[in-house]
Amino acid sequence: EKGGYEHFMLKEIYEQPSVIRDTYRGRLLANKGIIQMAGIEDNLEKFLNAERIIIVACGTSWHAGLVAEYIFEEFARIPVEVEYASEFRYRNPIIGPKDVVIAISQSGETADTLAAIKLAKERGAFVFGVCNVVGSSISRETHAGAYTHAGPEIGVASTKAFTTQITILTLISLRLAKAKGTMSNSDFHRYLQELEIIPEKVQEALQTNDVAKVIAEIYKDAPNCLYLGRGYNFPVALEGALKLKEISYIHAEGYPAAEMKHGPIALIDEKMPVVVIAPKQGHYDKVVSNIQEIKSRSGKIIAIVTKGDTQVRDLADHVIEIPDTIEALTPLLTTIPLQLLSYHIAVFRDCNVDQPRNLAKSVTVE
Ligand code: M6R
Repeated sequence: EKGGYEHFMLKEIYEQPSVIRDTYRGRLLANKGIIQMAGIEDNLEKFLNAERIIIVACGTSWHAGLVAEYIFEEFARIPVEVEYASEFRYRNPIIGPKDVVIAISQSGETADTLAAIKLAKERGAFVFGVCNVVGSSISRETHAGAYTHAGPEIGVASTKAFTTQITILTLISLRLAKAKGTMSNSDFHRYLQELEIIPEKVQEALQTNDVAKVIAEIYKDAPNCLYLGRGYNFPVALEGALKLKEISYIHAEGYPAAEMKHGPIALIDEKMPVVVIAPKQGHYDKVVSNIQEIKSRSGKIIAIVTKGDTQVRDLADHVIEIPDTIEALTPLLTTIPLQLLSYHIAVFRDCNVDQPRNLAKSVTVE
């Protein structure tokens, strides 16, 4: 059932090209220049009239929500707030009929997310679900929704659920951008075409497996690790750090790269590995100067770069190359080597990759 892979997690990492394709199949019609999703079409007015979108989720799904915040605001120019479901539900939040809530949950059973949905409904908001498990509690509790088609995710560490959530949320933002006229026609078509070939690029990103394994062996005994990214890749840094903590038990933190100088830089010494997500688009020069700051304090740099990059290569201790794509789609590629890196580190440390200690696949208690 692991399809020849040693762990479910690795199998699920490798399934990403095909499940991303499954997720957009029938929804993304690049040649016709159309995105069609029943749950969105039937409720288009609600989305178009929304004064803001509030995303509620936990864990990795919350990270997908953060990526979506950048995408929705850029593409559809709708203000977005991303909330931890557990905080939202207990805060007496200001929310009403002019808000659209998007609840993201792989399992569709997360207790805090379910409670946040019930609260939002009571206050008159329209609630849209992005779930993976068909017929789950959250998919039944929401007014409408769209399923990711990631297939069963067995590994406790979420991988393919994350990239398929980002895929769905990107499709939704593009559909809304088209309806609102907030994106030029040529950009819209460029995104559709790029999304259609993104599974091939994810496949190529999976070829970083060998280099990720080599780097994993070098840093497997590190007590700490920092992950830095900016813009669309800031949430990817958070996700990379979460993946490492949960399966290898190494303490890891994700930060927006520019926040370094406001505290975390004090942690940097020759023993600190710092994973920097530095694709060529998106604040590249700023990230390069962040790398220089770490370098001058002797930190060890593992950089995720666009194929062909030379500037970061000169500074970093290790580079992992991913294919080029449009900036907003880079999270779908930069995530891959981070998943592989934490996977191999956990394996080198003899950790139980698929069922890490103290964790359950769905958190049905608050
Ligand atoms: O099923 P959900 O997406 O609602 O689960 C949310 C979190 O519990 C989940 O993402 C958790 O953080 C994972 N173990 C992360 O890998």
